[in-house]
Amino acid sequence: MNQPAPVTWKSRWTFILAATGSAVGLGNIWKFPYITGENGGGAFVLVYLACILLIGIPVMIAEIMVGRTGRSDPIHSMLALSRESGGTKVWGLVGGIGMIAGLMIMMFYSVVAGWALEYVFQSVSGNYHGADPAQIEAHFNELLTSDSQQLIWHSLFSFITATVVAAGVAKGIGKAVEILMPLLFLFLIILVGYSAINGDFSAGLHFMFDTDFSRLSGDAILIAMGHAFFTLSLGMGAIMAYGAYFPGHASIGKTVMTIAVLDTVIALLAGMAMFPLVFANGLTPGQGPGLMFVTLPVAFSNMTGGVFFGSLFFALVSIAALSSSISLIEPGVAWLEKQNINRRLSTYGLGLIAWVGGVASIHYSAVFDALDYITANIMLPLGGLLIALFVGWRLDPKRVLDETGMANGPLFSAWRFVLRFIAPFGILVVFLHSLGLFSALQALFD
Ligand code: TRP
Repeated sequence: MNQPAPVTWKSRWTFILAATGSAVGLGNIWKFPYITGENGGGAFVLVYLACILLIGIPVMIAEIMVGRTGRSDPIHSMLALSRESGGTKVWGLVGGIGMIAGLMIMMFYSVVAGWALEYVFQSVSGNYHGADPAQIEAHFNELLTSDSQQLIWHSLFSFITATVVAAGVAKGIGKAVEILMPLLFLFLIILVGYSAINGDFSAGLHFMFDTDFSRLSGDAILIAMGHAFFTLSLGMGAIMAYGAYFPGHASIGKTVMTIAVLDTVIALLAGMAMFPLVFANGLTPGQGPGLMFVTLPVAFSNMTGGVFFGSLFFALVSIAALSSSISLIEPGVAWLEKQNINRRLSTYGLGLIAWVGGVASIHYSAVFDALDYITANIMLPLGGLLIALFVGWRLDPKRVLDETGMANGPLFSAWRFVLRFIAPFGILVVFLHSLGLFSALQALFD
């Protein structure tokens, strides 16, 4: 009983789909455009891309490697590898804190996913058809001030997530993702096309890609790094938990590149769909969490077949959110299952805790903001830092080489170097920078 049958995904491809399903979600379509808008555009995007490349990708390889080697939930996988390498039990804490972070993310994630569900409903009813930007904005604000409306959709989303997780991750998810992700991708391309024709495409692109570093605040760098973790589902053991189902011994490196590229391209497309509409319709790029919910209906309200496209688009966003949210509670469920607690009970128990937190973040926007800020900008980078240190410094390099399935060549050495030095150093510098340490030092020398 305590040695669960080694359930693995059918193939490396199924793993890619599931991990991409986890990575691609509200982070790409909702959060990335709005934080880019709030943080001034191009320079922020550049820092985000650098963080994906120098921190996200190396840490993701490390997480999957730990999960696949440990073949268990994050706590047990970390413990097993630590024991084997003569390390302490304290490393298990990384998995434990990660589980808590996952629940905390779920507490605001399912609220936003609830908004997306409400938008499916509104689009199907044709309520956005022919509406002007001001009406659409008013509707979004109405939704934000209605606790009861948000409660319904948040509850529905939480329930669906729990039901899928209770049924077991390895079964349904791969299949759904295989069909829906390409569809979402196609829709984003259509939206970018629409924006290119009907929006102010050049203003949108200039905003996203002109790197004006004077617009980059200290906090923006922390937010860009935090988002690199958030969007790739890193730092809390989600990808580690999925890694436990990664079949065989195939190289992890290529897989991770595929996931990271898909995730990044989808975020950039989402931004390219929205900002041209922002500038063409006199909306503000820095308006905050409402950005997607105000700009995209503007497109759907004018487009022929907009009711159909809009409904389907928000349905796809909701499903993308679902394939992410399941990975937020799966690590905790996997751990409880190891304690011989029934899977359904574990899932609905954790789901209930997250649901209660969600009710709090509906009612108090300060709770919503705090959960988002603390998880993405502090807990995930800290988790990532510890995972990088663990795999880079604690584990035996020969074992690491063997378990990543990479060839012993320059690529492996480069990865390991980045994981040992660049990623941890980068995370620390960003942390210290955001604490104001550097400006304090500068003031000292002035
Ligand atoms: N990556 C998802 C998104 O971009 C959110 C997510 C799912 C996540 N699982 C995670 C974030 C684990 C951090 C950790 O929407």
